Amino acid sequence: MTSIDPDAVEYIPPEAASTYTKLAAAYGQEYYRSVAEDVTEQLEPGDRLLDAGTGPGFLPILIAELVDSARIYAFDFTPELVKHGYDEARRRGVDDIVSFFVADCYAIPSPDHSYSHLLSTGVLHSLDDPISVLDEFHRVLEPGGVAWVFDPAIMDVPDEPDIELTEHERDVFEAYGVATGDEERSLSMSRAEEIVDDSSFADAVIEEGDRGDVRVFLTRSY
Ligand SMILES: C[S@@+](CC[C@H](N)C(=O)[O-])C[C@H]1O[C@@H](n2cnc3c(N)ncnc32)[C@H](O)[C@@H]1O
Repeated sequence: MTSIDPDAVEYIPPEAASTYTKLAAAYGQEYYRSVAEDVTEQLEPGDRLLDAGTGPGFLPILIAELVDSARIYAFDFTPELVKHGYDEARRRGVDDIVSFFVADCYAIPSPDHSYSHLLSTGVLHSLDDPISVLDEFHRVLEPGGVAWVFDPAIMDVPDEPDIELTEHERDVFEAYGVATGDEERSLSMSRAEEIVDDSSFADAVIEEGDRGDVRVFLTRSY
């Protein structure tokens, strides 16, 4: 049995990366596609989109396959997940559109005003200090820039996943679950409102999705 304590980490640790990648590949694609289509509709040629906490990178890769001439950047704290995104982008022939890097949401290694758009799915609920992270998102957006912060990322993972997992991956799955409906680890609408109110974003719309998920739309107004 693995000794991972899921409550002790904010990011996905290396030993959990392959489990998350396999589950996301098998059960996350419908969600990623619907978000990718919504986001792509808003992007214009020349836009620069950052995906913060990209995990295995499926979402920015789908967006890269759909966009005309925007540039996409995606990062995660976990190098194993970033490597998956990089390899998958090459395999699917979109590595000239989407770039991956390892970084921390609390200190994004990009100058102020670097991006026109920012996306983050399934990250906010896990952060100890989500206000600082929203402030960091605000910093890297250009004035008028838009952030979509959606939480959780919806995956229809059955209790017994019908995909091939190693013994280790199954242990990790049992330790973590993929807790889309887990009250404790999901974000409530009222908590999302508090976080946004205390952040640098003055312009915010918060919606509840069909599945009880929270969708935060933020605009950097200056
Ligand atoms: C539930 S996963 C969601 C991944 C991906 N966005 C998706 O929708 O599948 C949360 C991701 O946020 C990343 N993460 C959490 N805290 C982070 C931080 N401080 N900096 C960078 N990434 C972080 C984790 O490593 C993990 O890959």
